Amino acid sequence: MSDVSNQNKGPIARFLAAPPDSVGKTVFIAVSLCLVASMIVSAVSVALRPMQEQNKLKDKQANVLQVAGLYEDGMDVIEGFSVFEPQVLELATGTFTDQFDPATFDDRAAAADPELSARLTDDPAGIGRQAKFVTVYLLRNNDGSLDKVILPIHGYGLWSTLYGFIALEENGNDIFGLQFYDHGETPGLGAEIDNPRWKALWNGKRLSDDDGTLQITVAKAAPPAGAEHHVDALAGATLTSVGVDNLVRFWMGEAGFAPFLENLKAGEI
Ligand SMILES: Cc1cc2nc3c(=O)[nH]c(=O)nc-3n(C[C@H](O)[C@H](O)[C@H](O)COP(=O)(O)O)c2cc1C
Repeated sequence: MSDVSNQNKGPIARFLAAPPDSVGKTVFIAVSLCLVASMIVSAVSVALRPMQEQNKLKDKQANVLQVAGLYEDGMDVIEGFSVFEPQVLELATGTFTDQFDPATFDDRAAAADPELSARLTDDPAGIGRQAKFVTVYLLRNNDGSLDKVILPIHGYGLWSTLYGFIALEENGNDIFGLQFYDHGETPGLGAEIDNPRWKALWNGKRLSDDDGTLQITVAKAAPPAGAEHHVDALAGATLTSVGVDNLVRFWMGEAGFAPFLENLKAGEI
């Protein structure tokens, strides 16, 4: 009798009349909960995105300060970063361009933009495409002369692309520091590239020999060129170390910053 009366009701009335633990009501509650939860997560994610972007930018700026030896705990990063002169560099010519605003130029977006980048055929750093323009940071002495240049570098390690900076003295050959601010290598193994003791090994090394030949290497054994061009590979993380070797040599070479470093040595910057 009740089956007959239920059949006469509409679907909504039948749903409402069903017991709370019926399959229909259980599925309805589960789906509703999922929908509400996903809407809350999406809303929070959208609302926090500007803050995340701001924090990412601040982290990058803190890393530029660190690689230049200017970072202090608790410092105002934005104010500290203002000592740098950002410039957008055209890699092929090694000269600055005013085609883009260095404050807003996005190196990673440029590397993915077919207009602003090129696919690499010879790709030891494993980056696929290379932007034609990158943002570099100049640090000047009080008299306006150049103190250091901070150059962005990136390339593949073992599990991830490593993004970082190399700081060079004004002669464009002596390394002041190197550090990565974004990578996904294994903690305790490849991620030891962040270890201050390993990073300190870079200070005072030289990119090229007196003939201008690029000699810097990251390897287990020193190259014939000598210790001044050699950084010890990380123990237990040879593959990440090989990645660092490849990417540093790529970016300091002809396809990278070599034209800029030539201009620097010639006093044209
Ligand atoms: C779970 C796991 C994670 C690893 N992560 C890394 C890494 O991030 N970087 C790296 O170079 N090697 C890593 N390795 C080790 C490599 O497989 C390889 O053994 C090592 O690079 C060789 O370095 P070695 O010649 O100094 O021992 C990892 C190994 C395992 C099992």
